[in-house]
Amino acid sequence: MSKRVAILTSGGDAPGMNACIRAAIIACQKANFTLLGYKHGYNGLLQQEFIPLSLDSTHNLIQQGGTILHSARCKEFKNREGLIKAANNLRQAEVDTLVVIGGDGSFRGAAKLSELWDGQILGIPGTIDNDIAGTDATIGYFTAIDTAMSSIDKVRDTADAFERIFLVEVMGRNAGFLALNGALCAAADYVVVPEFFESAETEIKKIVNQIKAQRALKGPVSFIVVVAENVWPNGLTGLTEALQYHNINDVRPVTLGHVQRGGSPVAQDRLLATTLGEFAISLVGSDVTNIMVGEVNQRPITVPLPKTWEETKPLNQARVDAMRTLMNERYSCD
Ligand code: F6P
Repeated sequence: MSKRVAILTSGGDAPGMNACIRAAIIACQKANFTLLGYKHGYNGLLQQEFIPLSLDSTHNLIQQGGTILHSARCKEFKNREGLIKAANNLRQAEVDTLVVIGGDGSFRGAAKLSELWDGQILGIPGTIDNDIAGTDATIGYFTAIDTAMSSIDKVRDTADAFERIFLVEVMGRNAGFLALNGALCAAADYVVVPEFFESAETEIKKIVNQIKAQRALKGPVSFIVVVAENVWPNGLTGLTEALQYHNINDVRPVTLGHVQRGGSPVAQDRLLATTLGEFAISLVGSDVTNIMVGEVNQRPITVPLPKTWEETKPLNQARVDAMRTLMNERYSCD
């Protein structure tokens, strides 16, 4: 059975996307499938911009961050004309299966496309945010935790030297996975995540209490608050001002930003990316379509695409408990 498979990376790039492309190339070669790589996410699909992918492209690929196919957020793909054009281009290129590596926005686009194109659609979760239901982790998430952790470790050095308060903003879009896990790994003193954010008033009281309790116990020492992006009103500026209002001054804000998207993927991301890339290609030509491949308890699974965004993935409760206990043990608050 000879098949034509196309693959693209869409939305925020994530470390391990290249490892996934590599696995797909090798698996396609083995199955005797032709593999095309659309460039610049869905933009490439609209411009019919693709390249053949062969074993020549796989050397030294597993360790590279970013994506050799490049990525983009494509507005045109959100409207019907764009989707019709994409479906026509897939027909013209005689593609049987489209593999989309990306986050929930990319999966929503893929599901819309399936209404106009009757080829097979397979999604692979690739985002540092880990905010996709149906899979324990997404490609890039582990590397991003590692980057957040090592950055916060460095912030701790200077925070200790000056016995200062630092606020560190991490990415995650509207989810607290990166913030919570980065905070746990780097032994941050407090974490603010959207999942448990009631109001700035409630949260600021807790932070101020913890800082005061710690200072009463130990004198001036460093204090690091990790803050998930898009949660505090007006971000780190708003939180700095709120602390100043409570007479807590000399606070330094640090936004980690896109540095969390880069770098060579860590082992866990390479393993996940390689497993999911191979697994997706093993489904080419089967009846399953409009699904995401994911991993639950280290086993590959398939999930209907809509489930990946309709359900909200909760934070790992054991990690939440650990963070709460560690914060409260060290600085009795409230
Ligand atoms: O989804 C990945 C992500 O890095 C989010 O964490 C962040 O909110 C967003 O993308 C940033 O997007 P952009 O690179 O378009 O600014």
